[in-house]
Amino acid sequence: MSFDLAAWSRSALDSVETALSAWVAPEPAASAGAPGHEAPAALREAMRYAVLDGGKRLRPLLVLAARRAVAAGEAPEVAQALDDGAMRAACAVELIHAYSLVHDDMPCMDDDVLRRGKPTVHVRFGEAQALLAGDALQALAFELLTAEQAAMPAVVQARLCRLLARAAGYEGMAGGQAIDLASIGQALTEDQLRDMHRLKTGALLQGSVMMGAACCDPARPCGPAMLEGLAGYGAALGLAFQVVDDILDVTADSATLGKTAGKDAAQDKPTYVSVLGLARSQAYAQELLAQALAALDGAGLPDARALRALADMVVNRSR
Ligand code: IPE
Ligand code: IPE
Ligand code: MG
Ligand code: MG
Ligand code: MG
Repeated sequence: MSFDLAAWSRSALDSVETALSAWVAPEPAASAGAPGHEAPAALREAMRYAVLDGGKRLRPLLVLAARRAVAAGEAPEVAQALDDGAMRAACAVELIHAYSLVHDDMPCMDDDVLRRGKPTVHVRFGEAQALLAGDALQALAFELLTAEQAAMPAVVQARLCRLLARAAGYEGMAGGQAIDLASIGQALTEDQLRDMHRLKTGALLQGSVMMGAACCDPARPCGPAMLEGLAGYGAALGLAFQVVDDILDVTADSATLGKTAGKDAAQDKPTYVSVLGLARSQAYAQELLAQALAALDGAGLPDARALRALADMVVNRSR
């Protein structure tokens, strides 16, 4: 049966935007708290600026697509709690991603002035607020997963925290970013480049998939074939995502990307394009798409159509 990605993602994105706007540092109710907290108000503004109004929201879509892929035969109240968990996970991953972008753009890292079509957070709010906004977004991600109002079972909350922490930390995004900075001006081998991309970008994308899959009934957990299939899909797609990011840095313009094009060469960063050349990078992205889809074959997922459609979108995107 065919799957309408546009219709599904429109509705998913609507829900994600509403949830992010409600959860990311909203204005305190007029009656709450003492007046005069100027610094937190500025921090709240920087946090909302970093997260809202922009971004493709790919990671949230992956969480929701993976939840959809594993959901089957749950009692209505169980399904509702797990759907709430998936929305929390979707937003938590996006907060980690947004924090990573705020820090990635700072002068001590990529020194970028444009992000999501707007001045970067440090340009708009100053470096100290940008640093703190990133810190606070990271903390908020874990608060969302364990909030008192969170309806999913505690074991699911713990699993989501573990997956997110691992994807974001020294064996994931932060570790990859460290390798990225240490690699400026270096000639990396293809293996070294792959390892760097798997960590700095792939880990959070694969983590998104696995977090969606973790939103299942603890009484009827996903079997090993499903988990293996999803992990293989997430790994291939995560790497493909950064290969395409490297490609777009040379083929797209800043207006389309909403960020400065041509930055990688200007900063002498090793990328797929610099190591393999453009044509081979493009072919490799398609190869990874095929690998991602193949990983889902035989995984026995109740409904993998959204995951399949998203993989195609990631690899064939223009921004
Ligand atoms: C950009 O990610 C940073 C990388 C990990 C390559 P996205 O391309 O997903 O950025 P947004 O969220 O759409 O702005
Ligand atoms: C960023 O990679 C990866 C992150 C963890 C944020 P890039 O530095 O290539 O991302 P862009 O191109 O600035 O979005
Ligand atoms: Mg970077
Ligand atoms: Mg960058
Ligand atoms: Mg890039």
